[in-house]
Amino acid sequence: MFAQPGATFYEQVGGAPTFERLVHEFYEGVKADPELRALYPEEDLGPAERRLRMFLEQYFGGPGTYSQERGHPRLRMRHVPFAVTLDMRDRWLRHMYAAMDTLELPAEHDELMRDYFFRAAHMLVNTDDDGTRL
Ligand code: HEM
Repeated sequence: MFAQPGATFYEQVGGAPTFERLVHEFYEGVKADPELRALYPEEDLGPAERRLRMFLEQYFGGPGTYSQERGHPRLRMRHVPFAVTLDMRDRWLRHMYAAMDTLELPAEHDELMRDYFFRAAHMLVNTDDDGTRL
């Protein structure tokens, strides 16, 4: 893959199929991780998978469907109902990085996305390891 001038980041990394694959692989990891899985309220992870996919597509310059359906992202607020500890953050990131591995993007694009996930996941930590809300 090579960067096309004028293309959005979303297009440069392959558009919809790339985000579908990334988020699908990510949720395969979540399903196989009982402690992290327990945080997700719905029995069917399909709707959660769709929300994360729409959000990431929008964040990286693709269609704005997430905000049309859900409004302003306000990610920190939307994570308040879930106890995001350092341990849960690390599990989340491990699955996302494993999903990133399957994309085999050019280093520059790969690093930019991992860097975003690293920073955003940390920003969402809201609970101490002993259960105290931060
Ligand atoms: C880069 C980091 C992250 C991003 C971009 C992200 C993004 C999102 C988005 C867009 C939603 C759906 C919000 C909505 O529209 O209602 C969501 C839900 C959720 N997130 Fe995160 N998240 C991140 C990190 C985490 C972490 C670290 C955890 C916990 C360990 C977590 C746990 C959850 C849970 C349990 C839900 C509810 C599932 C649902 O029904 O949508 N997230 N996240």
